[in-house]
Amino acid sequence: MKKSDVVKTIVTHYNLKAEGHAFAPANIALCKYWGKRNTELNLPVTSSLSVGLGKKGSTTKIKMIEKSQDVIYLNDVECDPHSPFVMRLISFLNLFRTNNNFRFEIHTFSNIPIAAGLASSASGFASLVLALNQLFDWQLSTKDLSILARLGSGSACRSIWPGFVEWQVGELQNGFDSFGVLLPFAWPEFKIGLLMVDAQQKPISSRAAMQRTVETSLFYKLWPDEVAKDLSALKEAIFKLDFTLLGQTAESNALAMHAMMLTSMPAISYFLPETIELIHRIWNLRQSGLPIYFTQDAGPNLKLLFLEKDKNYIQKEFPQIEVVDPF
Ligand code: PMV
Repeated sequence: MKKSDVVKTIVTHYNLKAEGHAFAPANIALCKYWGKRNTELNLPVTSSLSVGLGKKGSTTKIKMIEKSQDVIYLNDVECDPHSPFVMRLISFLNLFRTNNNFRFEIHTFSNIPIAAGLASSASGFASLVLALNQLFDWQLSTKDLSILARLGSGSACRSIWPGFVEWQVGELQNGFDSFGVLLPFAWPEFKIGLLMVDAQQKPISSRAAMQRTVETSLFYKLWPDEVAKDLSALKEAIFKLDFTLLGQTAESNALAMHAMMLTSMPAISYFLPETIELIHRIWNLRQSGLPIYFTQDAGPNLKLLFLEKDKNYIQKEFPQIEVVDPF
């Protein structure tokens, strides 16, 4: 099935409004999505589980304009129409055009660094789908919105919800059973610290890195079993508010993902020397009794996981962190 067929099945009517305007949070996976079984529809090999970043994410405003091409602004700056960012967006927008005389004008505001492994594409595509839902007054369910967001970027299907979200792997070839589902548990003491090492664009996109891992890593065959184990431990941790279990599981899941990348051919590493230094500092602090863990995505930056009671101490240890309240 093609993306356009998925869209045609989900979007059956519209009623054009003046504008669409929506926010979606970024999300950080505690159990990672790494590997696709279908690259056209962004269908994953395994389920994954994330936590939303509260007020950190993307806001998108969209309207129709009578111009020959789409006009896209990112944080108030008009984007180069030939940049990879705009080309990717335009091919996604092509799925939703209703009239050849109109193009879209889009303003996206992101309060997280773009493409530095901080999930900016997830909140970007999720907020775009929510804004399109308003512009066209589709009145879609969150399940359908999550499926549409997945067509833009896999992890975007988890950004339709705030809080803990499980992206269920599904088994259908058309992906209609592969979408984000809210896990209805709030954990206000749970904090995330964004520890920026480098805000530059990543050396290799997650899309390309994922594919290379699936095709060449010695260890990829172990990944689905690891994920099944980690997902059930994380759900138990969330249900029991067991922070040690959550932290241990999320950290080892991230390290397993990076280990697979290191064993890909050619090897992929998102670690910078400073990333490694910080990881050692986190381990030393933990050894001295501080309950602090980390996770890392397709970039050199770390996300610290800790509880409210240790916030002041952790802020002193890492003065550069930005503390996020997911709940
Ligand atoms: O959705 P993508 O293609 O940006 O891939 C996201 C990959 C990770 O962030 C590394 C893991 C995840 O589950 O978010």
